[in-house]
Amino acid sequence: MDNEHRGFTSNIGAILAAAGGAVGLGNIWRYPYMLGQNGGGAFLLVNLFFVLAIGIPLMMTEFVIGRRAQSNVVGAYRKLSPEHKGWTVLGYFGILAAVLIYAFYSVVAGWTLNYIVMACTNQLSGLSPAEVADTFANFTAGSFWPVLYQFLFLTLTALVISFGVQKGIEKISKILMPVLFILLLLMVVRSLTLPGAKEGLHFLFHPEFSKLSGAGVLGALGQSFFSLSLGMGAMITYGSYIRKEDSLFKTSLWISVCDLMVAILAGVVIFPAVFSFGMDPAGGPQLVYVVLPNVFNSMPMGALFAAVFFVLLGIASLTSTISLQEIIVAFTVEELHWSRRKSSLISMLVIFIIGVFCTLSFGPLKDATLFGRTIFDLFDLITASYLMPIGALAMTIFLGWFYPKVEVQDEITNGGALKGKLFEVYYFILRYVAPLALIVIIVSGIVG
Ligand code: PHE
Repeated sequence: MDNEHRGFTSNIGAILAAAGGAVGLGNIWRYPYMLGQNGGGAFLLVNLFFVLAIGIPLMMTEFVIGRRAQSNVVGAYRKLSPEHKGWTVLGYFGILAAVLIYAFYSVVAGWTLNYIVMACTNQLSGLSPAEVADTFANFTAGSFWPVLYQFLFLTLTALVISFGVQKGIEKISKILMPVLFILLLLMVVRSLTLPGAKEGLHFLFHPEFSKLSGAGVLGALGQSFFSLSLGMGAMITYGSYIRKEDSLFKTSLWISVCDLMVAILAGVVIFPAVFSFGMDPAGGPQLVYVVLPNVFNSMPMGALFAAVFFVLLGIASLTSTISLQEIIVAFTVEELHWSRRKSSLISMLVIFIIGVFCTLSFGPLKDATLFGRTIFDLFDLITASYLMPIGALAMTIFLGWFYPKVEVQDEITNGGALKGKLFEVYYFILRYVAPLALIVIIVSGIVG
């Protein structure tokens, strides 16, 4: 199979698909909240620095591994390191991370589907704040409906995947990502035209360096890295689909710009609205599923904007779950020689079986805890704090210290076609800066 037929048909297709993978629930509820809590503009500047200095080089690293090998995450290490089979273990770590992330991510994605239905059928409007909170608590603590919506979300994702890289992933990303931006802009206009919107913008952007602690700086580092979906092979897999003539640097840059823009605009949607109605900017799921429905209930045409918002959240989640499942499917298709259909179906069922435990950890299984954490929280912690940073560290060691420099340079410069001094900068970050930053994240995760 040559590259033309194997992967994305255009650079814009690659950018939109990978940006879809990166833009997710993390951008919409986590980023704005972190920004607000950690000195607004101060956090933004630090985060921006980390995205440029570490996020983009790490994404390029995954792209180099994937495109060089023309292979899924397991096959990539096997092909690039035929004599040292040990590296292949990293590929399996990537698959494991994808399974665990998808298992808990699909829970929240399923909630979004429920809220799309509720918003579109006008079930949210007219509720008092206490009723909105109860609705969320009762829904998530249940068994049947959250599991059903999780199943539906998994089915939707598997359906897209089963159509293949070009007709499924690339095509849907080219439609959904522009739609996501349009819906987001619509929400931005709505939010900024509310009375008192200025206060929210102030909360969000006013740079207060005194509010940015060491933990906040570390949070900015971790966020840049989680938000770009690095360290588990999503970008290795998508990298293997990028055309040989595309610049890996420019592609990474555009993906990061999209990711950051959505995160910032999500803040511009959420905080002016929250402040305008005098509500408390809570973090996490509460913000999106409880605070915002209340905000929508208080604004003119709120029912419409609630529907728009949850559809937007659904799109952001879907393009991310697609990137998660594709890591697994690319592996089963290429390594186990299963058909794409069979791979999509079986991997979906496996995720569903594991994912149900995550869903039920908000209800019947909420007391099934380890170290005081529910199954959902454990999966989140294991992946975000350990598997992803450790995976990324291993990638930098593999590419920076083990794989020949000339080969890396050849892949980054497209065989010498692309000139520029940037390669040496990238290579320095790859060998020294990125591994050091990752070690700090990992150690602080263990200590803190
Ligand atoms: N980047 C996604 C987000 O911000 C999360 C994610 C991580 C998705 C890893 C896929 C893989 O929500």
